Amino acid sequence: MLTGKFFVIGVTGGIAAYRALDLVSGLVKAGAEVHVIMTVGAQQFVRPLAFESISHNRVHIDTFETPPGWHYPHLELARQADMALIVPATANILAKLACGLADDLLTTTVLAMSCPVLICPAMNVHMYLNQVVQDNLSRLRRTGFKIVDPAVGPQACGDEGPGRLADVAVIMEKIKKVLEPKKDLIHRTVLVTAGGTCEPIDPVRYVGNRSSGKMGYALAETAVHRGAKVYLVSAPTRLAAPEGAHLINVETAEQMYQAVLELYPQVDVVIKAAAVADYRPRVAATQKIKKKEAGLVLELEKNPDILMELGKQKKHQLLVGFAAETEDVINHAREKVNKKNLDLLVANDVTQPGAGFGSDTNIVNILYPDGKVEPLPEMDKLALSEVIWDKVQQLMVDKKIYAAD
Ligand code: CTP
Repeated sequence: MLTGKFFVIGVTGGIAAYRALDLVSGLVKAGAEVHVIMTVGAQQFVRPLAFESISHNRVHIDTFETPPGWHYPHLELARQADMALIVPATANILAKLACGLADDLLTTTVLAMSCPVLICPAMNVHMYLNQVVQDNLSRLRRTGFKIVDPAVGPQACGDEGPGRLADVAVIMEKIKKVLEPKKDLIHRTVLVTAGGTCEPIDPVRYVGNRSSGKMGYALAETAVHRGAKVYLVSAPTRLAAPEGAHLINVETAEQMYQAVLELYPQVDVVIKAAAVADYRPRVAATQKIKKKEAGLVLELEKNPDILMELGKQKKHQLLVGFAAETEDVINHAREKVNKKNLDLLVANDVTQPGAGFGSDTNIVNILYPDGKVEPLPEMDKLALSEVIWDKVQQLMVDKKIYAAD
């Protein structure tokens, strides 16, 4: 699993820096290509030569020193990395990353990365338990960094408690877990709807909404990675379809209704992340409506409620709805769970910063038919998709919905 993988190991200035040598050694022995970045502080504890001897690569230190053939060291490292680790991570690097500071090679590289980044904090117990450090860790977790919790025990300074660098074996296990793709949706067929429907007024205008489609596309992408056969019924968005998903483009609620109902009998799960227009113009003019002196009154008629219909026709399928609310979120959402016969509903307050349309993050509550409400912290939409699929997978296990294989 590690053979040929490109690792960037960031070493920062703590006494546990010497233990990163064992990690680098383990990765190299497993066939990985390892590049180490050391901060100024780290070099007070261990000399770069030690890492160079073990990794068989030059240690990267200076943002402005470009190895031959490399134009931008931080971008080269960020682009090539399959995974990055910060071992040990001091309180200082946690604070810098939590604020998005980029004042040295390690921070610039990590900020430019799209691969998983594992942070392994190690520091004095009182520093580690300090609320500011804990807040920074929560923020990093929410933004998608993976944290390997420190071990509890005697520390180099004489104190005792959590703050010791996690065992190298534990870090290795975590690396393997992150690299190993979860395939728990194999043999499942799922349908995800995304985007905001467009209801024509005339050939050039429509009634629409602010949905970007990001949440639905993230759900489809995650399901593909986890092994599902994925139908993505999408209203217009500016997004590229996730590779491996069967994309069915629609514009209106009526078209989405037809597409979804046709696929319904063959799917195990439907997640309706699309923002469906509740109303459409009663008549769509065949020619462009010309401007007149008087105002314009549009008569709207009701669209079908797709999810409600799915709820009525439900047999073996699991139904997941979304509710974008602006007030009294939980009560409005609870009504929808019951009315639409849902197994799960993801509700958010779109007026909250970090949760609105077009945002890369979301802050949601998950509601269940028994009335249970589970609040989740602000999360990247891909990370949230993983959580939603985890819940769906658990429901399928609980309800004994077996995959046909
Ligand atoms: N939905 C649907 N068809 C519609 C309207 C909504 O399938 N015509 C689905 C959405 O995809 C979403 C869920 O129902 O998963 C809730 O959508 P929302 O717009 O929040 O709820 P509505 O039932 O339309 O209620 P309201 O607009 O009054 O809040």
